Amino acid sequence: MANVFAEFGLMLLLSVYYIIPAYVANGLAVVTGGSTPVDLGKNFVDGRRIFGEGKTIRGLIGGVIFGFMVGLIQFLISTPVNDFFQQLILTYDFNPSIGLNAELVLLFNPLRAFLLPFGALIGDLVGSFIKRRIGLARGKPAPLIDQLDFILFALLFSYFLAPISWEYVVIILVFTPLIHLMANIIAYFLKLKKEPW
Ligand code: CTP
Ligand code: MG
Repeated sequence: MANVFAEFGLMLLLSVYYIIPAYVANGLAVVTGGSTPVDLGKNFVDGRRIFGEGKTIRGLIGGVIFGFMVGLIQFLISTPVNDFFQQLILTYDFNPSIGLNAELVLLFNPLRAFLLPFGALIGDLVGSFIKRRIGLARGKPAPLIDQLDFILFALLFSYFLAPISWEYVVIILVFTPLIHLMANIIAYFLKLKKEPW
């Protein structure tokens, strides 16, 4: 029986690999974004912006395109990557259920390559919609909403295609935002970012 820490490490690695297209979409929207906002400057019934100036059509489209491209690469290399993980699972005598789940987690296809980034950016819109409704100005931090909106919807959109087991869902929701936060803190200390989040 393999060590539980090693098994957890492997599941964490698989989870991060699975959700990469969603993070790419969210990150690249910042790079490609600008000009026309998704809500076209319109207000909601409460008199506040629907989504706000921070959600633009260019960000939405650019994020989906780049996330989709990364997902397609994952699809193209899915056989060797799956073989690699299966070999690892056999060699180190991991719980066989991890191997079965790994197959599902790594089962990339072009539709999922689209649904992960598309879901991510729809989730990002939903998050901004909620932030505007509770009166938070564009760019103000909303802990949990900012980190989870896009992951939650990316998971939701892709889940119907290949329902990964709940352990992976929990790891993706709990640990990938922590890894993201750690990366941002490191980028802050390396003076690559202005804020540590
Ligand atoms: N961005 C964009 N279009 C999107 C998502 C993001 O143009 N669909 C760009 C915007 O320039 C935005 C930046 O990426 O300001 C950072 O994204 P995010 O933190 O999600 O937006 P905020 O500006 O913080 O706005 P909000 O308060 O609505 O989250
Ligand atoms: Mg923000």
